[in-house]
Amino acid sequence: MLEEVLKVLSPQNNSNYIDATFGAGGHTRAILESPSNCRVIGIDRDPTVKIFAENLQNEFPNRLQFINAKFSSIKEVAGSQQISGVLFDIGVSSMQINNPERGFSFMKDGPLTMTMGDNEISAYDVINHYSEDEIASILWECGEEKQSNKIAQAICKYRKISPIKTTLELAEIVKLVVHKRGKIHPATLTFQAIRVFVNNELKELAKGLKDAIEFIEVGGKIVIITFQGLEDKIVKDIFKQYTYKSHTNKFKEQAIHDKLFQNVTKNVLKPSKYEIKRNLRARSAKIRAVIRTK
Ligand SMILES: C[S@@+](CC[C@H](N)C(=O)[O-])C[C@H]1O[C@@H](n2cnc3c(N)ncnc32)[C@H](O)[C@@H]1O
Repeated sequence: MLEEVLKVLSPQNNSNYIDATFGAGGHTRAILESPSNCRVIGIDRDPTVKIFAENLQNEFPNRLQFINAKFSSIKEVAGSQQISGVLFDIGVSSMQINNPERGFSFMKDGPLTMTMGDNEISAYDVINHYSEDEIASILWECGEEKQSNKIAQAICKYRKISPIKTTLELAEIVKLVVHKRGKIHPATLTFQAIRVFVNNELKELAKGLKDAIEFIEVGGKIVIITFQGLEDKIVKDIFKQYTYKSHTNKFKEQAIHDKLFQNVTKNVLKPSKYEIKRNLRARSAKIRAVIRTK
């Protein structure tokens, strides 16, 4: 959703932008290629994307700084710089999901890892060492998997025979207890939930977003792309607390913030049919954007 993001962000001359989820640098490139002479700070917790940053740094000298960190440290990264825009493109990248060695995909066999960077735990730890109740809670809280109890029970039954080591083993166990749901693979929500938990994604999102809200300059914009309901709900709820509308009646008690924001677009932006045809994963994407007004 490059076009939509650029339109909303509208990079200005001599301004600083943060791409909090650098990935392969697609959005950063688009920002650097825009007619403005702006600078970008790219953040990503995945150290393997450094090579993409280096290529862009050669192409756009002195205009890109790359930091290998989690965006929960975005405030420290921004420091005292004036920041005119922050972009979050939440979730896993195609590079991560398409590489079986990273263990994110239920379509290709690989080790049960699912770590985006330097993590304390892996999917293997959760699947093989957490209790049945803990696994069920993770599946529900991080993936809204309605059959969480059944799946957790199956995982604990099978791991008694031998440890569950690979992505396809896990996918097969889930398939035994979850029936096919239309075109969606039965293990989709399980994999999503474990990944979100292993990478602490929901807390990262809430912290990164609240911090960006704190430091963004007047006139600056925060643009965020989410791909699943739980993430979008966090974004919606946080923005609600800080945007203009929330300072009326019902939300008056929440109006404790002197930094006011407004929605940039009237409605949430969604991908075009063309974009969905080109990239099926975009079908559930939503873009929300706010601008700081004072
Ligand atoms: C959907 S991809 C972004 C793709 C990117 N916009 C592009 O154009 O190539 C998400 C990226 O965010 C990174 N990421 C996810 N959570 C993160 C976090 N909490 N802190 C920093 N990076 C994170 C992932 O490692 C991944 O590379």
